Amino acid sequence: MNWNQTHALVTGGTRGIGRALVALLLEKGARVTATGRTGASVDQASLECPGARWIVFDQSDEQQRAELVAQMQGKGVNLLIHNAGVQQLHDFTQGGETLQFTTELETAINFVGPVELSRAMLPQLREQADARIVFVTSGLALAPKRSSPVYCANKAGLRSFAKSLRAQLRHAQWGIEVTEALPPLVDTDMTRGRGRGRGKITAETAARQIVAGIHAGKSEIYVGASALLRVITRISPALAEAIMINR
Ligand SMILES: NC(=O)c1ccc[n+]([C@@H]2O[C@H](COP(=O)([O-])OP(=O)(O)OC[C@H]3O[C@@H](n4cnc5c(N)ncnc54)[C@H](OP(=O)(O)O)[C@@H]3O)[C@@H](O)[C@H]2O)c1
Repeated sequence: MNWNQTHALVTGGTRGIGRALVALLLEKGARVTATGRTGASVDQASLECPGARWIVFDQSDEQQRAELVAQMQGKGVNLLIHNAGVQQLHDFTQGGETLQFTTELETAINFVGPVELSRAMLPQLREQADARIVFVTSGLALAPKRSSPVYCANKAGLRSFAKSLRAQLRHAQWGIEVTEALPPLVDTDMTRGRGRGRGKITAETAARQIVAGIHAGKSEIYVGASALLRVITRISPALAEAIMINR
């Protein structure tokens, strides 16, 4: 992509990998619109990162998705990065969900949101010469872990959706490419207090690899240790699952 001619819409840009993506894209010369779920996080991010336009957006909310799409109309968005996500630890032997995070809500944020926002943004993206949708899934889309079954299923589902959508858009020759980025364990609020000693990478490192992959036009970006997991998955899916299930 030519960054000077890129207008990126990054969901979940207020913290973690999303924030690092926003900073890097701005540094490259792209125009960036970024979102966060809460007014407080968006206010904070707009102070710390004033180069982007910031919007409050809850992607589990159908009405807010429609409003975001309307706000973007005519703004020349040609790079849509679905980064926002939540990971809940659910033990199904103990009920499997919490009052704050039901399976339905987690799935609305991690799966339905990106799928439906993609659908609604397709007409706008189709008008652009060089358009791309990026889904940030996870290495856990390749092999799940025991502690967050809904999250892992959401990410595996999103991986599958990205593959079909890519094929549909190519078949229809709409000129929109689809990229899936699979981060490994990244040091963000999502993983705070977890995964010590397992080689967490920084959000900046993850963002650099994702942006380089987008620039190279890759369909799949295996970030950090996800590349090794992919190789193991190809050789022995059972071994990959055994390695990941108790992480
Ligand atoms: N961290 C990892 O190890 C890791 C590994 C693999 C994949 N990933 C994926 O990478 C992406 C970013 O993860 P992260 O670790 O950077 O997360 P994070 O630091 O927890 O940040 C999450 C971001 O998503 C936003 N968000 C949360 N709920 C939302 C909702 N309902 N609607 C819209 N936005 C919402 C948050 O906004 P507020 O600030 O307003 O709450 C925040 O900007 C996620 O898709 C995650 O699944 C992360």
